[in-house]
Amino acid sequence: MLSSLSDLPLRKQHGPKIAVLTAYDYPTGRMLDEAGIDLILVGDSLGMVVHGLPDTTGVTMDMMLIHTASVCRGVKRAPVIADLPFQSYRTPEEAVMNSKRLMECGASAVKLEGGVGMLPQVRAIIDSGIPFVGHIGMLPQSVKEEGGYKKKGKTSEQIDRLIADAQALDQAGAVAMVLESIVPDVATQITAMVKASTIGIGAGMGTDGQVLVTPDILGSFPWFRPPFAKARADVAGETLRAVREYLAEVRA
Ligand code: KIV
Repeated sequence: MLSSLSDLPLRKQHGPKIAVLTAYDYPTGRMLDEAGIDLILVGDSLGMVVHGLPDTTGVTMDMMLIHTASVCRGVKRAPVIADLPFQSYRTPEEAVMNSKRLMECGASAVKLEGGVGMLPQVRAIIDSGIPFVGHIGMLPQSVKEEGGYKKKGKTSEQIDRLIADAQALDQAGAVAMVLESIVPDVATQITAMVKASTIGIGAGMGTDGQVLVTPDILGSFPWFRPPFAKARADVAGETLRAVREYLAEVRA
């Protein structure tokens, strides 16, 4: 069980693999912590699975602050990583200011999407003393520019760009980086090249750890689940059953 980000290099070297899940509220944060999860991510995926938005581009700093504070109130041990939402890090100054606001809510680190193109922001965050987690590969905040969610690492040009992004974030001092929807061999290659811990999602099993969106594994968001996320419970089914049972009892 991780209790500090400073344990990450040891875990990368000696294992076991790092298990990460998302949380957006107090009870989920508290339960993940009590279950022994290594790291908790307050992901901007909350835009879809909590707020019903079509993608993450509608997520605001105000939303991230409320959810980060709620999660952190429930967590005693696991480091909490908070996402910087779309357009909250347009300049290095804005990135640092918004990172500080998330840290004041109790986060242990912040994450933003991008590689070489985000280096000024990444360096400014790290220089201000805030632990930083990168996110490369498929970038959900760029869904509109990209015209959809597309796997990365399929062409030699994409592979070169992914490697350059990973190395840039690593040299800047990222403690970890999410590798999202990357061809597995490329994710494994990046993992071997960088000091930072790689946390994969839809990127095969060769990374240092894995992250999933908690409602996907709980089956609590039944309207969409990515193919790589195995539902390990049927919370939606149980909710429908309990509500229907209550309805019948009240109406009887
Ligand atoms: O927002 C999120 O939940 C994420 C994960 C998918 C890595 O960034």
